[in-house]
Amino acid sequence: MERRDAAILGFGAGATALITGLTVWAALLLGVTAVEGGTLSAVSLAVLVLTTLAAFEIVAPLPAVAAKLGAIRASGARLFGVLDAPPSVAPPARTGLEPDGDPTVRVRDLRVRYGPEEPWALDGVDLEIPAGWTVAVIGPSGAGKSTLASVLLRFRDPEAGRVEIGGTDVTAYPADEVRALVSGVPQDPHVFASTLRENLRLARPGAEDDELWAALRRARLADEVTAMPEGLDTRVGTHGLGLSGGMVQRLALARALLASPRVLVLDEPTAHLDPDTRDAVIDDLLDAAEGYSTLLITHDLAGLERVDRIYVVREGRVIQSGTHAELSREEGWFRTVSAH
Ligand SMILES: Nc1ncnc2c1ncn2[C@@H]1O[C@H](COP(=O)(O)OP(=O)(O)O)[C@@H](O)[C@H]1O
Ligand SMILES: [Mg+2]
Repeated sequence: MERRDAAILGFGAGATALITGLTVWAALLLGVTAVEGGTLSAVSLAVLVLTTLAAFEIVAPLPAVAAKLGAIRASGARLFGVLDAPPSVAPPARTGLEPDGDPTVRVRDLRVRYGPEEPWALDGVDLEIPAGWTVAVIGPSGAGKSTLASVLLRFRDPEAGRVEIGGTDVTAYPADEVRALVSGVPQDPHVFASTLRENLRLARPGAEDDELWAALRRARLADEVTAMPEGLDTRVGTHGLGLSGGMVQRLALARALLASPRVLVLDEPTAHLDPDTRDAVIDDLLDAAEGYSTLLITHDLAGLERVDRIYVVREGRVIQSGTHAELSREEGWFRTVSAH
């Protein structure tokens, strides 16, 4: 596209200069003949030549406009594509969660349980994910970590307390609107029995291949897909190509990134991986999460030196929080687990 535009621009500018030159010369030649023949005064000749030059000044910008035309036409087509697309969300109860606003997540005294007789899965959790930070929530199985993820993704609502994004209580907004801002990789990402392309497009129906490739590159899966003979058309899932655990995580991450979220929630992304791939995958995930506000939920310590803050959750409560260095010094659950 850019190469073609440059070619039009170069050719157009060159052609304009050439035609201007030729026309001025022709005007001069005819003019000089006319002056010699006495039908044109010398002053008129000068005026004629200057007018010719002035006339071309008007058309000189046209090649630049022609070169831009392709891009403008493409933007127009995209715009009409958006306008023509049926709305994917039912008319919301209330709109206004700013997609470009401050994505800071604030969890205040959050309480969640799975039934009136059940114990609290989250029992007064306070936590903050400032814009652009990576925050880890670590704790034993059953601590309430996945419950926290499901509240952030609006799959469950708090029974008490609040979750705010950019200072706004998320329960005031339609779930779809919240999920456009917060996207996640679930604890057991599902690979649908279809092509890689369709698996990715779930997050953004109608996404172009170059958008899919960009997401695959960020999720560090592009090289593997390039190596597959059928590329994006490769069938995966049941009856398809079996993907390794690490590839499933990367595919799920690429899918999450395609939704262009501001906040990423990664729920135990390395739970099913062997220790050798675990570190590599967590490194890649954290690289890809650069620039997003990220919540990394984990029960092992891989990658935790890289996060900005760690919360230790146990039985639905935050029992410790701080940087990796702080928690490593502090007496408590974190140091005990680190020592093993
Ligand atoms: N769908 C559910 N129905 C009932 N109880 C649940 C459900 N999901 C989780 N729980 C309970 O909530 C508590 C927290 O679970 P979970 O959030 O999955 O913890 P973690 O992800 O830290 O292992 C546990 O006691 C668990 O048994
Ligand atoms: Mg869990």
